Amino acid sequence: SDPLRLGIAGLGTVGAGVVKIVRQKAELLAHRAGRPVVVTAVSARNRDKDRGVSLSDYAWEDDPVALATRDDVDVFVELMGGSDGPAKAATEAAIAAGKDVVTANKAMLAHHGQALALAAEEAGSVLRFEAAVAGGIPVIKALTEGLAGNQIERVLGVMNGTCNYILTRMEGAGLTYEEAFAEADALGYLEADPELDVGGIDAGHKLSLLASIAFGTQVNFAGVALEGIGQVSIDDIRQAGDMGYKIKLLGVSQMTGRGLEQRMAPCLVPETSPLGQLVGGTNMVVIEGDQVGQIVMRGAGAGEGPTASAVMGDVIDIARGTRVSTFGQAASSLAPVAAAATATP
Ligand code: HSE
Repeated sequence: SDPLRLGIAGLGTVGAGVVKIVRQKAELLAHRAGRPVVVTAVSARNRDKDRGVSLSDYAWEDDPVALATRDDVDVFVELMGGSDGPAKAATEAAIAAGKDVVTANKAMLAHHGQALALAAEEAGSVLRFEAAVAGGIPVIKALTEGLAGNQIERVLGVMNGTCNYILTRMEGAGLTYEEAFAEADALGYLEADPELDVGGIDAGHKLSLLASIAFGTQVNFAGVALEGIGQVSIDDIRQAGDMGYKIKLLGVSQMTGRGLEQRMAPCLVPETSPLGQLVGGTNMVVIEGDQVGQIVMRGAGAGEGPTASAVMGDVIDIARGTRVSTFGQAASSLAPVAAAATATP
């Protein structure tokens, strides 16, 4: 049957990882998808950079909008990042051209997910973003597919590996915040703007997406009560340890009598709990459903393989013919949220 043809915009760590999987696992993907999955065209800022994978089989576009609207592209794979600018313009162009879209862009979705999902719904396009939340952990698929028969009561977790790394190093090695931050920087963990990580913003973006999916509400990043890890001191961590607790940057979302609650803040968790035992640059998402009870998912929230894994899961779903909405229900049926409902300290 006809191959599914990908156009990939953004060839950083994740984009290169996706190209590698498509090239190296062609047979496996064809079996899983029921048809070949191929790359036809790519786009990035720098054409000449060595990415450890050959791009010579693919058409090159300097302009991601041109890539997104090519006749030989069925799925626009957006891996550029940035909440606005080229990523948003190209995603909008792809949807307007009737293409399906797979993206890892949590910032774009936190700010424009509702509008993009509505546009996709009207155009008959599928918009998918498993890789945008907790990297390799398939938490969106868990919520929208395996747990679709549940009323979700609470979603919580550690959704920024960089912050968890910094807190773990402060606690385990006794580093100051500044020393642990410098280590994370040297390891290449930090976002281009580190405030996105340590300010809790990146994790807040992810929480707003999970809350929307879990509770059937419109994405409301402005309603996330946000606090980062910049104020956490070694003394705080030692005092917590003396009481049998660890400090984690925890996102929590639940539906309350006052409306949707979304909070991202450093929290005390018992050191014997799954969250308390989460060390290093790892993510954990805990889901509580009225039928299933509690589910804990742990894994890599970033990096080439894990993030490309999540992108490919969405691509294969589309190749199989899924037309299921990203949010597990029609974007037009998501309930509006009063921003004030979450504006608690
Ligand atoms: N900066 C993010 C993190 C990358 O540390 O988790 C993945 O979104």
